[in-house]
Amino acid sequence: LHSQGEMEQLLTYFVSPKLAEYKCDTNEAISLKLVRFPEDVDDDSTTFHPEYSHQVFGDDEVAFGYKGLQIQLFYAAGNLSTLFKVKYTSKVTETFDCVEADDVEGKIREIIPAGFTCNTDDFISLLEKEANFKPFGTLLHTYTVHSEEAGELTYQIHKADVTCPGFREYHERLQTFLMWFIETASFIDADDDRWDFFLVFEKYNKDGETLYATVGYMTVYNYYVYPDKTRPRVSQMLILPPFQGEGHGAQLLEAVHRFYCSLPKVQDITAEDPSENYVKLRDYVLVKLCQGLPSFAADKLHLGFSADMIKEAQDKLKINKKHARRVYEILRLRATDMSDEDKAREYRLEVKKRLFGPYRKNQRELAKMRKCLRPEELVSHMSQMDTQTQHEELEKSYQDVVEDYRRIIERLASQA
Ligand SMILES: CC(C)(COP(=O)(O)OP(=O)(O)OC[C@H]1O[C@@H](n2cnc3c(N)ncnc32)[C@H](O)[C@@H]1OP(=O)(O)O)[C@@H](O)C(=O)NCCC(=O)NCCS
Repeated sequence: LHSQGEMEQLLTYFVSPKLAEYKCDTNEAISLKLVRFPEDVDDDSTTFHPEYSHQVFGDDEVAFGYKGLQIQLFYAAGNLSTLFKVKYTSKVTETFDCVEADDVEGKIREIIPAGFTCNTDDFISLLEKEANFKPFGTLLHTYTVHSEEAGELTYQIHKADVTCPGFREYHERLQTFLMWFIETASFIDADDDRWDFFLVFEKYNKDGETLYATVGYMTVYNYYVYPDKTRPRVSQMLILPPFQGEGHGAQLLEAVHRFYCSLPKVQDITAEDPSENYVKLRDYVLVKLCQGLPSFAADKLHLGFSADMIKEAQDKLKINKKHARRVYEILRLRATDMSDEDKAREYRLEVKKRLFGPYRKNQRELAKMRKCLRPEELVSHMSQMDTQTQHEELEKSYQDVVEDYRRIIERLASQA
């Protein structure tokens, strides 16, 4: 619901074409950058933009009241010291246009921690401090990535917690990125000592010195399981956009898995409200980890999803039953000759059996409803659960699942 004032403002804004020019798409207006060298500040090729800004600017992702709005949030590549600037070519005024511009600066200030600068020269001098920036916490894993342009680059994954000096403030700067790249992001209370933080850094050279740039991170909450176990739950994972699609997400998730596997008190590893991208990444990593286990050997796969698989995945890799089931389906697809009609049908039935679970539940609900609904209500429910539609939906889910599985199999083959 809008107040009277807001309604009037909205009406003026939609009615007047002149005022419509003062509307800016906030995903375009916000420019983000990770700065290593002073010349990066004016180099547009290193700028990237949010995927989402609805949590800050509302569902329309629009800021009203400015022409040529530019919101710059530039970060020093390592410790993420921040330069924050708002620029525009013109702004509506209450006296002339009878409307008020959105408080863009105030909205951004609500999500970025204090301590940023608004002065580019100050920001450039802060870059000199980057030589003193060292990754927080303990080193878990080092790996290299080969790229055509940059040659061989080295990355490190560290485990940190809030007791690491300077980490709390660094994390407050880092988590601002969540708002722009995770649809339903929320900030966490890092002071709760059950949070573990896993950070990825790239080593790079600047004037003969080795410096560290922030690549991405993951937060994990250690839930307690009665009587003496924990269940680490992945909460947020973000690989910063300039580094996406280079394998860092897979490296990070695998390193985190291996870390928790080494702790006897860990029961299994879960995730909070996982996104589709996260599930794809997890499937890939878990298949990579499970493919060498005896219970998942090629000759066992066609016998079905077994208790041995569940136990081995749980005991050796802290993988829960639901995730192990997907691993089994992927490995079985890889081992199945899908040009053989009988084998292909067997496989399809096997996956559909799992996918059919929720539909069967629907049918049970329908049966219950029949007993207590009035006829007209029943008709509306029946149409929602029409068998033909269910059949089509099931086929579509199956096709989608198999397509994702095939991509994972291709990725595994390309890494082999
Ligand atoms: C989801 C996310 C964590 C994945 O991280 P990532 O580092 O991009 O992941 P990877 O590079 O390991 O894999 C991503 C894709 O890149 C591909 N890829 C990996 N290395 C590659 C390479 N060297 N060359 C080409 N493609 C490559 C993978 O095959 C994979 O493709 P697929 O999705 O079709 O399977 C990251 O994209 C992200 O942070 N997204 C925004 C936030 C988010 O969604 N977080 C998850 C939920 S909280």
